[in-house]
Amino acid sequence: TEVHDNADLAALVRTIPDFPKPGIFFRDVSTLLLDGKGFRAAIDRLIDTFDPDAVDLIAGIEARGFIVASALSYALAKGKIMLRKAGKLPGAAIGVDYVLEYGTDRIEMHVGAVSPGARVLLVDDLIATGGTALAGVKLLRGEGAVVSQARFLVDLPDLGGAARLADAGVASGALLV
Ligand code: PRP
Ligand code: ADE
Repeated sequence: TEVHDNADLAALVRTIPDFPKPGIFFRDVSTLLLDGKGFRAAIDRLIDTFDPDAVDLIAGIEARGFIVASALSYALAKGKIMLRKAGKLPGAAIGVDYVLEYGTDRIEMHVGAVSPGARVLLVDDLIATGGTALAGVKLLRGEGAVVSQARFLVDLPDLGGAARLADAGVASGALLV
C-alpha cells in the first residue's frame, strides 16, 4: 500500500511497553524501516524541512541514527560523521558521557573528523530527553563544528529534548511527534 501522509508514517512506528525497562514505552522504528516506500517518504519529507545548501556534513548517532544519516548523506551527496558508542573508533577519539531515559552511555567521534567552521546537521531516529543529541552537539562543537540544526524521525516532546536543544542554540524538527 502507498504511504501518503504523516498519519500513515506514524502508524508504521510501533510502541512496545516495558522495553528496555518497566515503564518505558519504546517507540520502535524497525517497522517503518521494513516499509520501503514509507522509509523513502520519511527521508524525502525530512529533506524538505531544511536547506541542504546550508549543510556541509551530516552527523548520525549510533545505532539507529546511522540509518537516517546514511539515507540523507546518499540523497544529498553530503559526507557523514559517525558518532559512535564507546570504544568502537579505531583512530584518536574524543567522547562525551550522557544520561539516557533508561541508563547512561557514551558517544565518541574521531578527532579531526570535521574542519573548524563546518556546518553539521545532527540526525537521529528519535529524540526523547535530548541527552544523546546534546552530547553529540557538545562533541561536534568541541571539534569546531557549527551545529545549529538537528532532525529526527520521532520526537517525544513530553521528555523535553527539543526544548533542551533549543536552549543550546540548536533548532530541531521531527516528522512524527
Ligand atoms: C535511542 C535513540 C536516540 C536516543 C534518544 O538510542 O536512537 O539515540 O535513544 O534518547 P534521549 O533523547 O533521551 O537521549 P539508544 O541509546 O537506545 O541506542 P541505539 O540506537 O544504539 O539502540
Ligand atoms: N530512546 C529514549 N527513549 C526512547 C523511547 N521511549 N523509545 C525509543 N527510543 C528511545
